[in-house]
Amino acid sequence: MKMLSQVLVAAFLVVGSVQAFAEEYVIKFSHVVAQNTPKGRAADLFAELVHKKTNGRVKIEVFPNSQLYNDNKVLEAMRLSKSKTTGIMAAPSLSKFVKFSNTLQAFDLPYLFDDVKDVHKLVDSPIMDRMTDGLGSKGLRALTVWDNGMKVFSIKGDKPLKKSPDDFTGKKFRIQSSDVASSMITHLGGTPQKLPFKEVYTALAQGVVDGQENAWSNIYSKKFFEVQDYISVSNHSYLGYLVVVSRDFWSGLPEDVRAQVTEALKEATAANRRFAAEADTADRKKIEKAGYAKVVEMSAAERGAWRKATAPVWKEFRDKIGGDLIDDISKLLGR
Ligand code: LMR
Repeated sequence: MKMLSQVLVAAFLVVGSVQAFAEEYVIKFSHVVAQNTPKGRAADLFAELVHKKTNGRVKIEVFPNSQLYNDNKVLEAMRLSKSKTTGIMAAPSLSKFVKFSNTLQAFDLPYLFDDVKDVHKLVDSPIMDRMTDGLGSKGLRALTVWDNGMKVFSIKGDKPLKKSPDDFTGKKFRIQSSDVASSMITHLGGTPQKLPFKEVYTALAQGVVDGQENAWSNIYSKKFFEVQDYISVSNHSYLGYLVVVSRDFWSGLPEDVRAQVTEALKEATAANRRFAAEADTADRKKIEKAGYAKVVEMSAAERGAWRKATAPVWKEFRDKIGGDLIDDISKLLGR
């Protein structure tokens, strides 16, 4: 009897361990930021949760810091990938979908959101599906939105960007691949320059550009604050991410696996919102304490001047993004 139970226990352990390590699907999760950021932490947590929930059937391999792809390349790789067992996932910022979606460009409209709470109103509403539906025809499947935070402007020079939009005159600013951001900088009086994220630090350090716009966690984790003199708390637009996967890989997953991965993503998304709120305060404080760039608050009047200067951007992109969509978002946000 004792023998039999020992045999049974041994058999159970063997079967159990085979089940636990029978890796059937690998998902390469590529991102460009540091691990200790809202996106980096959410991606690592997602990998852990997927491992648990699928009992090891799905392995998420996370590649931070542009190790595997930059954001533009990853979208192409995702669209071209044909494998049914190895998928590509990423969370590029919403601004980086410029080639694939007109509707998503609404996220970059200056001063559309007062704060991240406003963003959640939109992201958690049915309007979000309307904004991402079109990605299917481009070979992409949108899964969720992750936060970073509101963007602020940094600059190297003898005065902060503050008093009036004239402070932008003659200055070059690194931006993401967004045409809306490009127009915004031009209307503020500066010169926009699109650059991949991994080139930003060097471009700032070598004076290729004078300034940039980003959320606190990126300015901190990539040390932009060490090579900038001022950071103006402009909160002029939102930096957030669309988590996407190859459409065909996703629809080819067995239903139970897809449900488990979806559940993991839901939990990671809730955690991401906490990570982002934490980083927003903590990373700003660390930058202030470090004593390199000086953090400068903006008054309502100063913000108003920037808002006025950038208002034509809305008109310029209204038809492209969709007038009805912009009106519906404005209504949702109580404007
Ligand atoms: C940027 O390029 O500035 C950001 O999109 C980087 C990121 O992913 O937060």
